[in-house]
Order: sequence, then structure tokens, then C-alpha cells
Amino acid sequence: MKDVIILGIESSCDETACAVIKNGQLLSNIISTQIEMHKKYGGVMPEIASRLHLENIGIVIQEALFKANISFNDLTAIAVTRGPGLIGALHVGLQAAKTISLIYNIPLIPVHHLAGHIYANEFVKPLKFPLLAVVVSGGNTELVYMEKHMDFKVIGETQDDAIGESFDKVARVLGLPYPGGVEIDRLAKKGEHTYNLPTPLHDNSLNVSYSGLKTAVINLKHKLETNGEVIIKENMAKSFQDVAVGLILDRVKKAVQRYKVKQIVLAGGVSANSYLREEIVKMFNNTNIEVIIPPIWCTTDNAAMIAKVGEYLYQRKVFADLSLGVDPSWRIENYLEY
Ligand code: KG4
Repeated sequence: MKDVIILGIESSCDETACAVIKNGQLLSNIISTQIEMHKKYGGVMPEIASRLHLENIGIVIQEALFKANISFNDLTAIAVTRGPGLIGALHVGLQAAKTISLIYNIPLIPVHHLAGHIYANEFVKPLKFPLLAVVVSGGNTELVYMEKHMDFKVIGETQDDAIGESFDKVARVLGLPYPGGVEIDRLAKKGEHTYNLPTPLHDNSLNVSYSGLKTAVINLKHKLETNGEVIIKENMAKSFQDVAVGLILDRVKKAVQRYKVKQIVLAGGVSANSYLREEIVKMFNNTNIEVIIPPIWCTTDNAAMIAKVGEYLYQRKVFADLSLGVDPSWRIENYLEY
């Protein structure tokens, strides 16, 4: 059988990434992160992200091919993140992919970024269906139910901010550097839950909400400062994290009561959170539901996961032509509409 070699490209936020997969085996996975640059501004600056993607994409592609010991002529297809993400950033990856597709006359495969995060778990274990994917990232928060491969149903989602966004904003309020989630996780380990924060969206749905929680932290901070009290950052981090992650845990618990699943997978940047990882494992200990905890490299943006989804779409001949555009708010259910 002919080898299937897929080049994956990812540029939806602040990582320029490229990877090569040959017949399911990851040959290279190159990531150029912009975090240090965005740190100065306390968050991702879209304009700067696009410029840095432009500066780095050629180098990252070359490096991925070099590490995989292949040339452009060996490629079977090219898979690229089409959305969701930052519009300018997405365009850079897509233009690079289109150019390669045109020059080397290979299929162009549009990949949904969150499908990538879910399928990153396949580098750990094969996915088992039906499954529940807990997608928690800087730009998205959703519970995705899958009955089979490449079949996504959003059964719960944020009504406002993403969970990662709330970690980052609360961190900024506390004077912690970007990306705030990492810092809150670190500080929370040394703190206690002493601050009283409201549990958002006290209802029976599978949806979540984070903007009220963020505002509650800001208001509490003002109140304490006005009263001349010193905020204990470790305790605020722990109190916030307990509520933010607690809401996800509550929704997961409800979801498995309503949907019979064999497996739960964590996906996205916030799945690096140590409290979430520990609690979700505890929750399903001694049950017949298997929990996959992705290694940290799988939780951050990378192109290996895009190439992985690219393999599934290649088998299904999901190819686009050069008129393909990006979609910053592409919904996962519509991953075949582009
Ligand atoms: O998936 P990702 O790279 O971004 C999107 O594609 O949206 O996730 C980045 C997010 C940031 O909000 C960051 O603060 C958060 O993931 N994050 C964490 C942790 N590590 C990264 N949040 C909580 N705990 C962590 N350990």
C-alpha cells in the first residue's frame, strides 16, 4: 500500500506549528511559541501574532520536513487549521498550506482546531466510543459527545467567556504574568479556599458561564482594597480555581448521567490544570468509564493533532480547493462545511 504522509499546519493563536505524520506515526512536531512576546502585553496581541506567524512559518515548515527526513515531493496531503481562532493568524497558516497544495499538486484538508485538540488524545490511546470530550481552552469551553469517529455533538458550552480566558483575566487582576492559567494553578497549590465566590449558572443544563465569576473576583478585590485588606493571592487563586474547575466537574458528572459514555478525554490548554486532572481521575476511579489525561505537550497548540485529524479526513476525501477561507468562529459540528 502507498504511504500516506501528511503535513499539518497550525497557526490559530500564538503558536506557529508544523508536523509530519506517516501512516499514523508522528515523524516530527515543531512548535514556535510566541508566549514571551505576548507576555509584555498581558495577553495575545492579534496583530503581533499574525506578524510573528508570517516571520516563522517558513522556518517551522522547513524544520518539520528536515526532522522527518522527507521533502515536499514526498507529501500525500496537507492539513491546516481553518478555525476557530484569530482571523489574521489563521490566514497565515492557510496561505502557506494553499501554496504548498498548489505547487506540489496535493490535496488541501481543512481541519477544525478543536477536533485537533480532541484527537491529540490518540497519541496516548485509541479513542473509544461513545465518548465525552471536555474541551477547555483559552478561546473555547464545550462538552462534545461523540458516537463515532469524526462525529461531534456539542451538548454544553460557555454562554460567555471561555474558562482559559477567565483564568487569564483573573491572573491579570492579581498581577500575575500571561498565560495566567499556569500561574493560578501554581499559586493555588499553596493556597486555601478562603474567599467566597459565587458558583455561576446554578442550573440543570450542561452549559457553563465564566464572565460573572471573573467580575466577582474583580469586585471582591476592589472591596478588599477599599477596606485596606491585603489580598492573599494564593488563596484567591485557590478559591477561583475551585469554582471555575468545579463547574466543569459538575457538568461532566451531569453529562455522564445523561449520555452513556465509555471514555472521557480532556482537550485544550486548560486540560493542563493539575486540579482538573486530579479531580476528573478521582471522579471516575472504580467506574467502567476510562479517562484519558493527555500529556502536557498535547494540551498546548500543536500541528501533530492537526495532521492526526488530517489522516481521518484524507481517508474520507475531505478536500478543499484554493477558494478555501478561514472561519474564526467555525463550530465543530459544521466541520464539513467550508
Ligand atoms: O488551548 P490553548 O493553547 O488556547 C486556545 O487554543 O484557545 O489554551 C491556552 C489557555 C490559556 O488561557 C492558559 O491560561 C490556559 O490554557 N492554561 C491553563 C493551564 N495551562 C494553560 N489553565 C489552567 N491551568 C493550567 N495549568
